[in-house]
Amino acid sequence: MSTVHVAPARRLRGELTPPPDKSISHRAALLGAMCDEPVRVTNYLEAADTLSTLGAVRSVGAIAEHRDGHVVLRGTGLRGAQPPEGPIDVGNAGTLMRLLPGWLAGQDGRAFTLDGDASIRRRPVDRIAGPLRAMGAELEATGGRLPPFTVHGTQLHGTDHDLPVASAQVKSCVLLAALLAEGRTSVTEPTASRDHTERMLAAAGVEITRRGTTVTVCPVDELVVEQLAVPADPSSAAFAVAAGILVPGSRLVVRDCGVNWTRTGFLRIVERMGGIVVGDLEPAPDPAAGDPLPGHEPVSDLDVAAGPLVGTTVEPDEVPLAIDELPLVALLGCFAEGETVVRGAQELRVKESDRIAAVVEGLRGLGASIEATEDGFVVQGAGGLRGGRIEARGDHRIAMLGAVAGLASRDGVDVDGMEVAAVSYPRFMDDVATLR
Ligand code: S3P
Repeated sequence: MSTVHVAPARRLRGELTPPPDKSISHRAALLGAMCDEPVRVTNYLEAADTLSTLGAVRSVGAIAEHRDGHVVLRGTGLRGAQPPEGPIDVGNAGTLMRLLPGWLAGQDGRAFTLDGDASIRRRPVDRIAGPLRAMGAELEATGGRLPPFTVHGTQLHGTDHDLPVASAQVKSCVLLAALLAEGRTSVTEPTASRDHTERMLAAAGVEITRRGTTVTVCPVDELVVEQLAVPADPSSAAFAVAAGILVPGSRLVVRDCGVNWTRTGFLRIVERMGGIVVGDLEPAPDPAAGDPLPGHEPVSDLDVAAGPLVGTTVEPDEVPLAIDELPLVALLGCFAEGETVVRGAQELRVKESDRIAAVVEGLRGLGASIEATEDGFVVQGAGGLRGGRIEARGDHRIAMLGAVAGLASRDGVDVDGMEVAAVSYPRFMDDVATLR
């Protein structure tokens, strides 16, 4: 494990292009593997998590090659996945662990076991097992809820699902299974979550509609798409955005960032806190005007400038649209005037680490006045952070949180386990260095 000292920055200037989107890369690899004809994925994320997805689709019979800086997939077709000899290794990738079983559950007569690293073995799969069972799948999980996880493929049937918690991973798992089911499937979430799967399926010729937070999908014989383009990841961009806002005198430009409205909740929270981020963000659809599903992902440059912040309350319906950026909301709260509260974010407890505990204990060790609640945290702004030492806990987003805290702190921060940033953002420390 490596410890990196991140010294306070005087100001940050310049521009950066964040790495390709992790969520969209996972989906592009899976969709490519489900197609009969070759699919070219441009700007695929070359990071630990999404390399696990290429490994996983290869292990069930797809070919995935790097060619001219792109990834080309030759799939098995929708119904042609073949079980490997041993378990499918998902590494540290929770999205892969939750999406892939959706496809595999429809491989009639074939069984697949999925397993991963120590962190994956602590993350529940019962949330996908329930809906897949309702569609007719047979599944076995350790202790009923943890990986290793075995999926016995069968002929699925279309079902209407009402999810208790908004989760793009669970919704996407069901939508992939629905492609192979008999009859129509619908998924209703309590509030909207990221919609990359829906957009990609629409682009691949699937009959898919959205009304409010209900998505309905019809089965297909094949998926047809030649090329998928991955934008820069707004969740990775968020670390630079936060650094640019917190380090006095900073001016940054973030290039080609994905600005799908289901991913820009953090930018709306930042704006409410008084942060300056200017970009051409996709507006949320107007329910009165209907809700067409675009088959593409919008992108924009973002201009970020440092400035004073005020505390805010993040309500439960905002949580799924900013889920991976909530640790950064806590950090901004340390520098804001007044109180910052996040509510309804109990999902953070089952991410790559228990992110409520990791954020609260981590930032407190750097001088923050922060308390955990069951479903979030409460931060009292104290004009900044002293600095100190933070442990990444094997969680890429906690490692990068520690580094951004270091840039904005008075004394700097030692981040233990910084190398785990490579799960989603291998060049993170290099990008930070170019902005100093
Ligand atoms: C993801 C959805 C979110 C997010 C995760 C990626 C996805 O999880 O936290 O990093 O790609 O669908 P949930 O669906 O569990 O909220």
